[in-house]
Formats: sequence, C-alpha cells, structure tokens
Amino acid sequence: MSERVRPVVAIDGPAGAGKSTVARRLAEELGFVLVDTGAMYRAVALVAIRQGVSLHEGAALGEVAAGLVREHALVFERGDGDTGVRVKLGNAPPREDVSDAIRTPEVALAASVVSAHPEVRAALLDLQRQAGADGGVVLEGRDIGTVVFPDAEAKIFLTASPQVRARRRFAEVQARGQTNDDGSAVTLEQLENEMQRRDSQDVGRAVAPLRQADGALVVDCTALAVDDIVAQLHAFVLSRSSR
Ligand code: DC
Repeated sequence: MSERVRPVVAIDGPAGAGKSTVARRLAEELGFVLVDTGAMYRAVALVAIRQGVSLHEGAALGEVAAGLVREHALVFERGDGDTGVRVKLGNAPPREDVSDAIRTPEVALAASVVSAHPEVRAALLDLQRQAGADGGVVLEGRDIGTVVFPDAEAKIFLTASPQVRARRRFAEVQARGQTNDDGSAVTLEQLENEMQRRDSQDVGRAVAPLRQADGALVVDCTALAVDDIVAQLHAFVLSRSSR
C-alpha cells in the first residue's frame, strides 16, 4: 500500500455522468484539491487546433503535450467565488484563461481524439501522478482508477443514461451561451450524437480505455440528486480512509 496520509479519490465515468459537479462538491467537503484531468486533454486539443497540428499525428501531439508540461504552461488556478478552478495557458503571467474555450463541443470531440494517442497520455501521466502524490486529492477522468492511481484508496465510477447525460451537456452549453464555430445553435440531437461518438472513442481505444476499475463503487446518477450522490461518496471515502 502507499505511504499517503490522506487518500486519493479517483472518479471515472463517461461524459455528462455528473463527474465534474460531484467531484467539485466532494473535494470542497473533504477539503481536498480537485484535479480535472479531462481539462488537460482539452487544453492539449485546443493548443493543437490553434497550432494547426493534425489530431491524428500522435508524435506531434505528444510534443504539444510534453511542451506544455515542460514549460509549466498549463496551470490550474482557483477561481473567485463559485467559478471553481480556472484553466490557464502560458509559462508566465498574465496567462490566458481558456476555461471557456476548452468547453466547446468542438474541443470536446478533439480532446477525445487527441487522448487516444499513447504519446499524449504518456506526456500527461506524470503531471497527474504528481498532482495526487501526497493524497488529499480528488482526481476525475476516464482512467484514474485503472491507470493513473490503480492504488487509490477510494475508486468511484459514475454513470447515467445517455439521454440524461446529453441533456446535462445541453444545459451547460446553453448556460454558457455557446454556439457552434459557424455561429449556428448547438442542438440536443447534435450533442447526443457527439456524446455517442466520444463514448465509443473513449471506450474503444487501445490505450487506457474508459472502464470500471476493480473495486470501484459504481453509482448510477440518472435519477439521483447531487446532494445524495455527494453524501454517499463522502461516506464511502471516509470508510475507505479509515481502513
Ligand atoms: O471529462 P472531459 O469531458 O473533460 O474529457 C474530455 C476528453 O478527454 C474525453 O472525451 C476523453 C479524454 N480523457 C481521457 O482520455 N482520460 C482522462 N483521464 C480524462 C479525459
């Protein structure tokens, strides 16, 4: 077992299952640091798109990711008030806040493609492991309990029906007032299709595919209130930490 004093909490699951909201609330309640690993893949995808790097060139994408890590150019900062963690790019202040730019449907799909390349995963793995090394951290993603921290004290897998997941994403996109790149409105049907594509990419890839970790607590969030999910997970983490 590890020498950590405080536990590592690993939360995995498909897009829209409720990971972000639940992970943020749980981290707040526990007084733990929150690490959103999906935001790392999204940031790599955003930089690759901006630099005109093909999303199918694993080596070049790996270099984009390794460059961000090497230059300390991918930074997570606490936001003011309720805005949560902000994602910033740049190796020195003033860094560009890309928190909204990485949340577009286009970048979401690109992140899913980019994340299938082993070179990209390898470049981000150390960063993720360092972030959790001392424990007292909630990490959310697709492979936290299976690859990044297979020895995490508390492993959690969140699911929800495809319809509920797409509706959640739709509500988020609307709240941000986002449109497609060509200015057209994002539709629920479009998000359902994109989510399906992303699911099959994330589950079907050869490296670190999305799957339940052994020993994970599985929670179906389709019909549960956020408060109830957080309470259940909080109790689970406490029970796992006292062993
Ligand atoms: O959680 P998210 O929607 O922000 O993640 C965006 C993409 O990044 C997702 O489609 C797959 C990829 N990802 C991954 O491969 N491994 C992780 N640990 C987190 C995200």
